Amino acid sequence: MPETADLIVHSAAQIATCASPDGPKRGAAMRDLGLIEDGALAIRAGRIAAVGPTRDIRARFSAPQAIDARGRAICPGLVDAHTHVVYAGDRIGEFEQRIAGATYLEIMEAGGGIVSTMRATRAASIEALARDAAARLDEMLRLGTTTVEIKTGYGLSVEAEMAMLGAIAQVAATHPATLVPTFLGAHAIPPEYRGREDAYMTLVVDEMLPQAAAWYRDSTFAADGVPLFADVFCERGAFTLDQSRRVLEAGRALGLGLKIHADEFTALGGVGLAVELGAASVDHLDVTTPEDMARLAASDTVGVVLPAVNFHLGSHHYADARALIDAGAALALATDINPGSAPCPSMPLVMAIACRYQRLLPAEALNAATINAAHAIGLGDRVGSLEAGKAADLLILNTADVRHLAYQLGGNVVERVIKNGAVV
Ligand code: NIG
Ligand code: FE
Repeated sequence: MPETADLIVHSAAQIATCASPDGPKRGAAMRDLGLIEDGALAIRAGRIAAVGPTRDIRARFSAPQAIDARGRAICPGLVDAHTHVVYAGDRIGEFEQRIAGATYLEIMEAGGGIVSTMRATRAASIEALARDAAARLDEMLRLGTTTVEIKTGYGLSVEAEMAMLGAIAQVAATHPATLVPTFLGAHAIPPEYRGREDAYMTLVVDEMLPQAAAWYRDSTFAADGVPLFADVFCERGAFTLDQSRRVLEAGRALGLGLKIHADEFTALGGVGLAVELGAASVDHLDVTTPEDMARLAASDTVGVVLPAVNFHLGSHHYADARALIDAGAALALATDINPGSAPCPSMPLVMAIACRYQRLLPAEALNAATINAAHAIGLGDRVGSLEAGKAADLLILNTADVRHLAYQLGGNVVERVIKNGAVV
């Protein structure tokens, strides 16, 4: 008697499983996609029951529904581990200022940047924030992204940060993507606290973080076992290393997972802090020293690089992702989609940039965009690879070779997206 399944997807030229049962991939394992030729998957109750050669899966399972992948390639749904996808307004004016020669930090110091998006976001309703974020997530889903981390950080007051969490919860209730919330009250000093940075720190640590943690405890995220992270922008003109420590230690005391924006423009020591506190990830890493790369490699913290930022800022400098992999760090890729430094919904474009400017092989970019990204947001045991027991999140491409995801540029090779076992 064959086992029953709800759906069998079969006859893929290749399935890139990205399987890695013992944690994120490192070093030479990054080049291994766990390929299965003429592959199939059996899906039951939204999860993968089995993956293997088409002949074996069809002999072992019967299902009322089948999808013939017709010789196309299949890979896991992509995981975007760093986004600011909830925001209002745009920063097209700053885009033109930068084209004329101004830098991101100069614009930020002159009162633009994050604070300009804060003004637009504070003025928007929760419903409008949720609606605009859902539209962006729809596009990300069409481009293959099935799991998305989402940060607050454009509210910068207790009410407005809680409204951003409310917007994230509202989108999560209706959108097919799996969403992971991150609290980023320490993204910038809001104008009303300029010159009173310590008072803002106290607000973040004593009021915002405890309220965010309380919100989380009663949320569907907690009920579903999805973590809430605390994050901080450790950078000149944003938060110092000491202030970052204060935020992350407060987050840890509340039982939250930890993340940090570190080494984007200035190396302030954020990598060491992340490793010391056992952060899930440290993100940006554009100017990280070789010593800190070694420190990261020796830890369980995932390094997330965001090359769409360098690209959008017109920089010719990129994080040395090649050196990070070669040092043994667990490397992930993310879009950082936000209106200022990366208005980019596309993980495949990020993979494409990483291959061209950071010398990743397409296989390394795919592992960085799936299994390692899942570990960066605490969901490494649920999404990011095609292994029995995990969510049935997978992409059927319009090509027979998964490497086309990173090879092609500016189009969309994703033909069909299956999320939790359902075609979306
Ligand atoms: O990750 N670096 C800080 N935060 C974002 C930028 C946000 C913005 O400019 O609005 C980032 O690049
Ligand atoms: Fe960011």
